[in-house]
Amino acid sequence: MKSILLSISALMISVAGVAAADDPVAVRKALMQASAASAAASGGMMKGEIAYNPAVAKAAIATLNAVSHAYGDFFPEGTGGEDTSASPKIWEDGDAWQQALSKFQTDTQAAVEAAGKDGPADLAAFQAAIGPVLSNCRSCHETFRLQTN
Ligand code: HEC
Repeated sequence: MKSILLSISALMISVAGVAAADDPVAVRKALMQASAASAAASGGMMKGEIAYNPAVAKAAIATLNAVSHAYGDFFPEGTGGEDTSASPKIWEDGDAWQQALSKFQTDTQAAVEAAGKDGPADLAAFQAAIGPVLSNCRSCHETFRLQTN
């Protein structure tokens, strides 16, 4: 269990390292990799592949909440193009993009509050808290991420 927590925190640290490199595309990709690690840990617990652990659940939720607040800062104009799967719609329809970011923030914030100080008490409580958060992945990608395959 410790290794999952460590890999989530290692990702957040690597995000901080990338941020220093001043490359917004690399930072936003790293933030999404941190989201993917949290979603994978969550999915593993929900499928019963790894035992439910409230501290891991809390860390996953906290990571997604942190990403939701940081993410929008790494899409300056002119950073669409070849080395990114960010859709041009991000810049063409800024209002809709802000709404998607804001929904991600609202849903992760509700999950943070549901998780409380010690993390969700059991798997059912965790599923109820994280479910709405994970629906954001697909809904945002459908509109704002170019399909790469
Ligand atoms: C508000 C919109 C939004 C939400 C919510 C969102 N993503 Fe993303 N995601 C994007 C965009 C835009 C890209 C493309 C970024 C780029 O290539 O510059 C992306 C890219 C990715 C990538 C590829 C990163 C890479 O290295 O190229 C992964 C993995 C990913 N998202 C996972 C997730 C997961 C898991 C969630 C939910 C927990 C999530 N995303 C939620 C917008 C979002």
